[in-house]
Amino acid sequence: MSAPRIAIYGANGHTGRLVAAELLARGQDIVVAGRNAGALDAMAGSLASPAHVTTHVAALDDAAALRELAENAAVLIHCAGPYAVTGPPVASAAAAAGCHYVDHAVEPHHVRFLFGEFGESAHRSGAIMIPQASFYGGIPDLLAATVTGGMTDIDRVTIGYWVSGWRMTPAAKRTAELLITEIDRVTFTGGTHHVGPGEVRNTVFPFPPPLGPRTMIAPFPMGEIVTIPRHVPARSVEAQLTATTFAEEQVFTSENVDDATRAQSTFVIAVQATGLAGGGRTGHLSGHDIWRAGVLLSVEAALRLARGQGPAAGGVFSTAEAFPAASMLQDLDTLGAFFFHGVTESAAKQEMR
Ligand SMILES: NC(=O)c1ccc[n+]([C@@H]2O[C@H](COP(=O)([O-])OP(=O)(O)OC[C@H]3O[C@@H](n4cnc5c(N)ncnc54)[C@H](OP(=O)(O)O)[C@@H]3O)[C@@H](O)[C@H]2O)c1
Repeated sequence: MSAPRIAIYGANGHTGRLVAAELLARGQDIVVAGRNAGALDAMAGSLASPAHVTTHVAALDDAAALRELAENAAVLIHCAGPYAVTGPPVASAAAAAGCHYVDHAVEPHHVRFLFGEFGESAHRSGAIMIPQASFYGGIPDLLAATVTGGMTDIDRVTIGYWVSGWRMTPAAKRTAELLITEIDRVTFTGGTHHVGPGEVRNTVFPFPPPLGPRTMIAPFPMGEIVTIPRHVPARSVEAQLTATTFAEEQVFTSENVDDATRAQSTFVIAVQATGLAGGGRTGHLSGHDIWRAGVLLSVEAALRLARGQGPAAGGVFSTAEAFPAASMLQDLDTLGAFFFHGVTESAAKQEMR
């Protein structure tokens, strides 16, 4: 095992446990942290290499304990949600301590908050902070950067998620309920972010074969609406989620299923980028187990930050701003997070006279 240590906040949750197991399998010493001492001890004792695990108890309102956690780790992976509640105190401790920070947030408002609140303090302390390095948010951020690489004059980037068999945890269920009922939504149209009430509609997204066109909830509030415009010169960016995802039996009632059942989800994430003069590009990836896909991204990001393979100076970055997007996608494909099907170009068509 090797220093530096990587800390996991919310380690006894489903995502935290997967992150801990993956880090141990990849040779790291870890700190498992959260608010519940008994749950952390039980979880630490169940891991494959307990000798390489220490525990640290820190409630969200205990700034000193959170600060101590961040000061004693090279990277902190924040796995406790909803992030509207858990985000500010944990991110604040990391930014102040100069501890690199990675989280699994979905929520656009949390992502905006991180960019708005911690850019300067992270730059001063040297902390590199990457929100939503996970399935929702981070993977499409990487895919959008890869699909649009070298494109100029982009009219629209649309992210289509097809997700089936999503068994939710308590925190995921709570997060989804908050997102779905949110009135003031973050959108990006006309080259600008807007926050306010907006129409939610059904539309059709043209997934590549064999999936084909699917009815979508549009827009769906995802954090990549905040990050993609930072590095892709598009006039509008929208995320859409298959309407069937929330209609599936068990989606909102399965928080007590075992981990193996929870791993049975299947997914396709596609990005369509259309040019101002017509034509454009599409790219997509597919796989099983959205939880594992997100964990492999957060762990890969944390390991790279621990090795000094991220941005040269502290600040808040999207996943694609922090790492070369196309090679990160390929590395995640190799790790088994998903299968990347590549990018297809469609030339602009001439109008018939
Ligand atoms: N972007 C993505 O694709 C993606 C992927 C995976 C997860 N996530 C997000 O990650 C979060 C965790 O998901 P999960 O599946 O691991 O959920 P989970 O199994 O329900 O675990 C939630 C964890 O958060 C902790 N927690 C919740 N509220 C807390 C609070 N007020 N103070 C301290 N700790 C608190 C819980 O601690 P206790 O046991 O003490 O309650 C537990 O450790 C969710 O918000 C989910 O949406 C996102």
